[in-house]
Amino acid sequence: MAQDQTFTVTPWEVKGRVDYRKLAEQFGVKLLTEEDIKKIEKLAGDSHHLLRRGFFYAHRGLETIIERIEKGQRWALYTGRGPSADLHLGHILPWMFTKWLCDRFNVELFFEMTDDEKFLVRDLPLEVANRYAYDNALTLIALGFRPEQLHLIIDTEDIHYLYKIAVKVAKCLTLSTIKHTFGFTDSTNVGAAFFPTLQISVAFLPTELYREEAPVLIPAGIDQDPYFRLARDIADRLGYPKPCTLYCKFVPALTGEEKMSASRPETAIYVNDDDETVRRKIMNAFTGGQPTKELQRKLGGNPDICVVYRYFMAYVPDDNIVKKIYEDCRSGNLICGECKRMLYEHIVRFLHELREKREKARDIIHKYRISSKF
Ligand code: TYM
Repeated sequence: MAQDQTFTVTPWEVKGRVDYRKLAEQFGVKLLTEEDIKKIEKLAGDSHHLLRRGFFYAHRGLETIIERIEKGQRWALYTGRGPSADLHLGHILPWMFTKWLCDRFNVELFFEMTDDEKFLVRDLPLEVANRYAYDNALTLIALGFRPEQLHLIIDTEDIHYLYKIAVKVAKCLTLSTIKHTFGFTDSTNVGAAFFPTLQISVAFLPTELYREEAPVLIPAGIDQDPYFRLARDIADRLGYPKPCTLYCKFVPALTGEEKMSASRPETAIYVNDDDETVRRKIMNAFTGGQPTKELQRKLGGNPDICVVYRYFMAYVPDDNIVKKIYEDCRSGNLICGECKRMLYEHIVRFLHELREKREKARDIIHKYRISSKF
């Protein structure tokens, strides 16, 4: 849990304007260097826009994974979702990058749907969280994962894969550590206090299933770090390799706040939003533009503080398009209405394709379940 006077970041809450450098310092994670990025790109034989544009910016133990890739040793990817609602574009950002890692390094992804977590920490019936686990999995599959690449774990249904690891993890963690790490209090229910052991367990699962040392690399938003700091602390004691992580910054809310909020639908674009809703949300977005068209033409805008530009950075891989928008905005050639219209077109095209693939995923979801493979 990181709390500063100006911002708060926990796995359940992000408030205020996050200073990402400071946050990395508070969490004790390393910043990704130019050299790290070059190394990944060289090994991948390719470059990913989320890496070169600084969305993924911090890590724990990345050098271990790099070394294993260089030596041709086994490792795996791990990430997840707390299925409490429909997905918004922020959630899928780390997964788009994860897909790229899967393809470039020919490595398998273990994906945890924590329906139990959302029941325990939110006011959500277990059946509803479980239904969202299946729904959210369709979008994940729609990003293009092949069945042999992706192993889907739904906590309440696949618990036997995790439980033996979770009790060992639980024995290493005191209540006081859990309270301090996650900001729990004496009135927190015991299920919520136990839950972190399950999110940690998946980090050790590939080593059990492959029956050989297989550290995981976890691409995720930086809010998830508290789990993996604990996982690294106890790994040695349990005879597992330390999990490694790669953290991204948050895609901001359309209204300019730091992170989209599932409880405030206007701040985020959801995978299931219809075109008109997407249009309205983008048209109302916070920009770095001038108050009037005339001033914008004369003075130019400020893409560095503009949410619309940040969305181009996140969801439009083509550098030429993004560069042109930056320059045209600065010079006053591009006004906000036009820029928003272009973003709308990119986003709805992306969403149409995603939803089409989601429908196809309904018939094949069983092929992705961990139980169909291990
Ligand atoms: P959840 O469902 O809160 O979030 C899922 C993933 O989305 C990231 N994320 C974002 N990334 C960029 N911009 C945003 N605006 C944004 N909002 C959310 C989160 O950081 C996360 O990576 N407890 C977890 C589920 C989980 C998990 C994991 C996550 C289980 N095992 C391993 C990551 C890695 C949760 O509730 O995530």
